[in-house]
Amino acid sequence: MTVNAERFLEDLNTLRSFGAAGVGKGVVRPAYSEADIAARRWLAGRMEEAGLQVRFDPVGNLFGLAAGPSLLMGSHSDSQPEGGWLDGALGVIAALEIARSSDRPVSVVSFQDEEGRFGVTTGSAIWSGHLPLTEADGLSDHAGVSFATARAAMADLAGDFVDPAQFTGFVEMHIEQGPTLDIEGEQIGVVSDIVGIRDMKVTFEGQQNHAGTTPMHLRRDAFQALGEFNARLNDRFRNVVTPRTVWTIGHVNLHPNASSIVPGRARFSMQWRDGDTARLARMEEIIRATALEVAEARGMKLSFGPLLGLEPVEMDRALRAALEQGAEAVAPGRWRSMPSGALHDATNVSRLMPVAMLFVPSIGGISHDFAEDTREQELLAGLRVLDHAVRVLV
Ligand code: GLV
Ligand code: MN
Ligand code: MN
Ligand code: MN
Repeated sequence: MTVNAERFLEDLNTLRSFGAAGVGKGVVRPAYSEADIAARRWLAGRMEEAGLQVRFDPVGNLFGLAAGPSLLMGSHSDSQPEGGWLDGALGVIAALEIARSSDRPVSVVSFQDEEGRFGVTTGSAIWSGHLPLTEADGLSDHAGVSFATARAAMADLAGDFVDPAQFTGFVEMHIEQGPTLDIEGEQIGVVSDIVGIRDMKVTFEGQQNHAGTTPMHLRRDAFQALGEFNARLNDRFRNVVTPRTVWTIGHVNLHPNASSIVPGRARFSMQWRDGDTARLARMEEIIRATALEVAEARGMKLSFGPLLGLEPVEMDRALRAALEQGAEAVAPGRWRSMPSGALHDATNVSRLMPVAMLFVPSIGGISHDFAEDTREQELLAGLRVLDHAVRVLV
């Protein structure tokens, strides 16, 4: 049997209907939301129809298992708070299509909370043993909801953790989420390595006060501290980073967040990524020292949340070679080997088995946005490369 392009595209569109939002093809399907759980139930049904044995684990990772030893394929089906329709979803539906059209044993997975509502790639981090479940249960999202509370919403579905020993390897297809393939007019990227990441919450606490009566020199304004911290940090990083290093303050919670109140507290996310572990550590030192300096100068209390992270990893040679062979067959001369600046479940799974990844272009390099998209012919090219690789590997 060969892959069924129509069935694949139809399932991809159906998955989008869970949490469809915003303009264009956007989705809002964060981990453990109603839309996410409904999508997982639907996916489980599609897995069953494909003859796979369905298993949810205690954190909501969803597996469709083939009998006996198998190649595991998949990604995640949760989304960012404002997400695109392909980030994660593409890898899951492509895996499903390969599993049901192939005569080789292929299992399918949709990991939970890849997008980091609670941690960094939480579901696969727990499954791989990187993040202990007890530690994860103590994490909370930006609204203060604990992981333990959130995952309880799936308790009626939960079985045991799936034994990874049955899998011979893991292959994850994904959109690139960056501009390279689109700019170069290429159809396929075979991933060489995935960057490392660090992520922690930082809090400045000053004095909440009246915005009309409190003279500027007497204020302990938490937003002013955050602003100064950001400016100093950018300055200090200049001699430390490479063009591939990135850092982001993506979430800020100002308290009480009112026009006429000097903010008493600023809690924000601080995330940084690089391919070099030593550089990640150096950046952490600079972050902590800069925050402390600003806090002392402005009479702020300073606290740091738990440091979460993943190390940079290289993809497996043999799995990569199979994908490269598939890429050359499907898109001769129109593919490249490339690093991933986005994080993926494959990083965690690499602790358990050989892993490899395949990219298709993101139009305009846009992702983590409602406008995220990929041309249909390239979605199908990626599917065919996977199909080709499975024939070589299994
Ligand atoms: C995962 O979505 C990431 O932020 O890289
Ligand atoms: Mn993703
Ligand atoms: Mn993502
Ligand atoms: Mn991701």
